[in-house]
Amino acid sequence: MNNFSLNTPTKILFGKGQIANLGKEIPAGARILITYGGGSIKKNGVLEQVRKALEGRPVFEFGGIEPNPTYETLMKAVEVVKAEQIDFLLAVGGGSVADGTKFIGVAATYTAGDPWDILLTRGAKVTSGVPLAAVLTLPATGSESNNGAVISRAATGDKLAFFSPFSYPTFAVLDPVTTYTLPPRQIANGVVDAFVHTVEQYLTYPVEGRVQDRFSEGLLLTLIEEGPRALAEPENYDVRANVMWSATLALNGLIGAGVPQDWATHMIGHELTAMHGLDHAQTLAIVLPSVLEYKREQKRAKLLQYAERVWNLRDGSEDERIAAAIQATRDFFEKMGNPTRLSAYGIDGSTIPALVEKLKEHGCTALGEHQDITLADSQRILEAAR
Ligand code: NZQ
Ligand code: ZN
Repeated sequence: MNNFSLNTPTKILFGKGQIANLGKEIPAGARILITYGGGSIKKNGVLEQVRKALEGRPVFEFGGIEPNPTYETLMKAVEVVKAEQIDFLLAVGGGSVADGTKFIGVAATYTAGDPWDILLTRGAKVTSGVPLAAVLTLPATGSESNNGAVISRAATGDKLAFFSPFSYPTFAVLDPVTTYTLPPRQIANGVVDAFVHTVEQYLTYPVEGRVQDRFSEGLLLTLIEEGPRALAEPENYDVRANVMWSATLALNGLIGAGVPQDWATHMIGHELTAMHGLDHAQTLAIVLPSVLEYKREQKRAKLLQYAERVWNLRDGSEDERIAAAIQATRDFFEKMGNPTRLSAYGIDGSTIPALVEKLKEHGCTALGEHQDITLADSQRILEAAR
């Protein structure tokens, strides 16, 4: 096992009715800005619950944070934070609202230059931020309890991540009931995203991280079992609870501590979203099977372990088991409702050179757990995903 330091400072309030308890987690006297997306929280009553929990306190609201949140929109919220002297941000929504709010928090106090530099320097120069928390309504990204955020810039077609110790939510409310109103497409996206987060920290090469491996396999098996049930039984509390907790644990730092991490699928996927507007998890469903196929030799030992422990594939040659495991992964994504080929989204492959050019511009020239996926390799991975 590799050395690691792990700090997961986000307090989790999990379960039905927990929104009512969030008031006492926010410092007394704080001027609070509730941030949200396109309005789903108004329709399903989550905003009402949050307002009630904060009754009598100085609360402001900023809505309209879009999926794949944009710098342009978020900078408008930064103005509100400054004008109203906000000192606590409460993100209510999915990963986009949580990510956007993380950016708002650090951009509002950033003095090292233009706030877009936060993305260009991946957060390295951030020294402060407005404290924040999240009420999660879409289990997927893990953003509710990690320090990362992915921000898009409409004007330039960029989608970049930053990380900062000032971006950990101080607490996160995870009430599975809030997820009952998710449309099937977002249920699928969430399950696929959490699945791929787990795979990107598990399916690399063995370092005797047996605890991490078993945790990862447990998350993958849970998502394989509960994901289709979430589609079939949208109001099954226990199904939703297990999906929600899996998604948080998939990217709160726990399973990735002390083991190699890949992230090539995510980096290539972000370019697909930026250029073609695909949902984040749709891009992952396209790219991951292609990455596994392309790197099957480097990932051989873990692919065999994945085949046996996650898909129960024990018969046939090693190559046959690996091929069957990759096929099972593809079938799972398709079954959830996320096609795994570019062509299924009307993308013919003519933009692959431009996508590779964007990877180059963003410094993604040595991806994967061995940093051996060059631009030429990314091009082949995308070609094979047509
Ligand atoms: O905007 P509203 O009206 O709220 O509707 C949203 C949005 O249209 C809707 N939704 C959310 N909760 C709902 C609901 N609809 C009905 N009922 C509910 N309970 O779902 C739509 C998608 O929301 P979004 O927040 O965009 O989805 P997700 O949580 O998948 O977040 C995706 C973003 O997170 C980034 C992605 O790149 C993408 O920008 N990621 C962030 C990560 C992180 N911070 O660690 C890691 C991930 O790999 C990912 O890159
Ligand atoms: Zn993701």
